Amino acid sequence: MAILVTGGAGFIGSHTVVELIQAGKEVVIVDNFSNSKPEVLNRIEKITGIRPILYQADLLDKPAIDKIFEEQNIEAVIHFAGFKAVGESVQKPLEYYHNNITGTLMLCQSMREHGCKKIVFSSSATVYGMNNPVPFKEGMPTSATNPYGYTKVMIEQILSDLYVADKEWSVILLRYFNPIGAHESGLIGEDPNGIPNNLLPYIAQVAIGKLPCLSVFGDDYDTVDGTGVRDYIHVVDLALGHLKAIDYSLSHTGVEAINLGTGNGTSVLQILHAFEKACGHSINYKIAPRRAGDIASCYADASKAKEMLDWEATRTIEDMCRTGWNFISKNPNGLE
Ligand code: UFG
Repeated sequence: MAILVTGGAGFIGSHTVVELIQAGKEVVIVDNFSNSKPEVLNRIEKITGIRPILYQADLLDKPAIDKIFEEQNIEAVIHFAGFKAVGESVQKPLEYYHNNITGTLMLCQSMREHGCKKIVFSSSATVYGMNNPVPFKEGMPTSATNPYGYTKVMIEQILSDLYVADKEWSVILLRYFNPIGAHESGLIGEDPNGIPNNLLPYIAQVAIGKLPCLSVFGDDYDTVDGTGVRDYIHVVDLALGHLKAIDYSLSHTGVEAINLGTGNGTSVLQILHAFEKACGHSINYKIAPRRAGDIASCYADASKAKEMLDWEATRTIEDMCRTGWNFISKNPNGLE
């Protein structure tokens, strides 16, 4: 029996595949490489000694997805594949809704037709919207401020409705906070196309000299130093959370939304200074206006994951910056 990982060549997907393989699971990846590279497969093989089966296919291509379920014995799916850039989603709403939502509908139809009813979904803390107080708890109302966020809210609803209709489904909605860092080996890590949107890859590219200066988006928030506070979580901790979620789903039915965060907030300037320590030199930055749609603070109440999955993050901000720097130092041009 195998676990199908959609988007398994991506940042979080690849780290999860490594942990699944190392835990003795058989893994099948489906990825269209729209935001990842085939080289990731070589890296996963280098780390684990095992090359997972790969289907290069798009979730919108239903016959191609059916073929996977026909050829492989899939017992559960971890569904990462989707577009994820907030700003781009505002410019391209149709593309985002079509790709993320229709892709998920096709996947679930194929799963149902082949009797596979266990899914772990890659959701986001973005579903807590603008109006909930921190720390965010799973029972809070969900909302969104951009098409990307709405795809997460809607897919959570769609998957929950599947269980309402058919009690054989097991649905786990993992709400990630801010995953950063890289595998200890430096062989896999975050490798965004173009100029990064997210803080850590941006800092890393300034640190390595590819970008001149970090813009800190706002220093007048009601936070420890005025800059935005987020719950950064090491991508390997996050990957291990998926392992726990899969094991849980194999023995349960139902729907559970679960935060994967550390429960601690760190400001932009605190992260910047931690990265300076990791790379051993100062990093150029300037204070810029707030970015539209940003909130002051976002961090998890991480207690449900601990109680339900017996999972908690153990890696520190220092670990995250050290491994992130190790990855970009070894792969200054990304995965080639
Ligand atoms: N920031 C900067 N400069 C940059 C980039 C970011 O100052 O160049 C700041 C932001 O203003 C924010 C913090 O760094 O305060 C983190 O920003 P990111 O873009 O790295 O992350 P976000 O918290 O905005 O977004 C992340 C994910 C989204 C997800 C969201 C909510 O990228 O997918 O968390 O969970 F929707």
